[in-house]
Amino acid sequence: MPLIKIHGMIDPHTHLRDLDWSHKATFASETKAAIAGGFWAVFDMPNTAPSTIDQDRLSDKLKRIDRDAHCDWGLYFGASQADNTAEYEKIARQVCGLKIYNNSTTGDLLINSSAMRERHYRAWTPNRLIAVHAEEETVRNILDLVRKYRQPTHFLHISSEYEINLLTQAKQDGLPVTVGVCPHHLILSEDDLPTLGAYGLMKPELKRKSDQRALWRAIRLGIVDIIESDHAPHAIAEKESDAPPYGVPGLETTLPLMLQAAKDGKLSLQKACDMLSLNVQRIWRIAPFPKTYALVDTDETYVIERENLMTKCGWSPFEGMRVRGKVREVWIRGTKVYDGENVLSPAGFGRNLFGYVA
Ligand code: DOR
Ligand code: ZN
Repeated sequence: MPLIKIHGMIDPHTHLRDLDWSHKATFASETKAAIAGGFWAVFDMPNTAPSTIDQDRLSDKLKRIDRDAHCDWGLYFGASQADNTAEYEKIARQVCGLKIYNNSTTGDLLINSSAMRERHYRAWTPNRLIAVHAEEETVRNILDLVRKYRQPTHFLHISSEYEINLLTQAKQDGLPVTVGVCPHHLILSEDDLPTLGAYGLMKPELKRKSDQRALWRAIRLGIVDIIESDHAPHAIAEKESDAPPYGVPGLETTLPLMLQAAKDGKLSLQKACDMLSLNVQRIWRIAPFPKTYALVDTDETYVIERENLMTKCGWSPFEGMRVRGKVREVWIRGTKVYDGENVLSPAGFGRNLFGYVA
């Protein structure tokens, strides 16, 4: 039987934009893209314009996404260089986690000072996790904080052999850490940069083939917990400009790329599905609602083309690749929200999976 049922797929690492960056993408457009990609829910990062770093901005974002989302969702709060820890207890009840940017990327949330990183680690409430952007040596710095404060910490978009080695050791030491890897780091490498140009630019950057092999090995060994897209839509005109921004979209390509990888023998089908659903649910401690699943035809293959994508940005770094797995239906809380062609749920259908809406 080619039709498989995946219960409660979640992408816990997306940049839905909206607000002052609605020209790139909106809560409405990207939650539709998420559903078309087979997802039940998406968690949105705080490096928006404006950044989600105080209660007022969080309340505003909660209101807007609650009004516009077609699928279920969660929001991250952003750790700020100017100390914004005072209301952490109250904030934590409304969000899926705290995001700390420890290396530079899109937005203005970089925290360079180790004293400030530590302040956030000390102040955050451990009932919600901390998700970190940390690359290379910075992974080591954050692990020191995890060792000291024992805050559950998810390492986003891990991309190099060096980072994998550090996190393998951290897991062996029993630290409360989890690891996410993105499809672009698994499938593309620096060798693709001449062809992709600005469309292959993201943070962390595409790495060597040897790093890619280390990521696949870590998946097979169970060091990597989840696959996350780091869906980061930018307009084509921006990518074509003299100063192209970092980031690539991924909501609609993550599942078929992983199903193709399973077919190619890179990992088992069960593991591919678990890394997109069960493992994410376990880390963020949420159970899917009954009748919340995607029906996927794993026999059907197709070529990724921009004309067929719902994301507002209208391009993909994976264009031209043949992938496997057509999403036939998506159901959320007993309602059919996708019929294989159209999103059926209205704006506002989506719910916050983490507490109340301001
Ligand atoms: O490539 C990236 N794009 N990496 C990030 O960390 C941020 C993201 C974005 O917001 O564009
Ligand atoms: Zn990101």
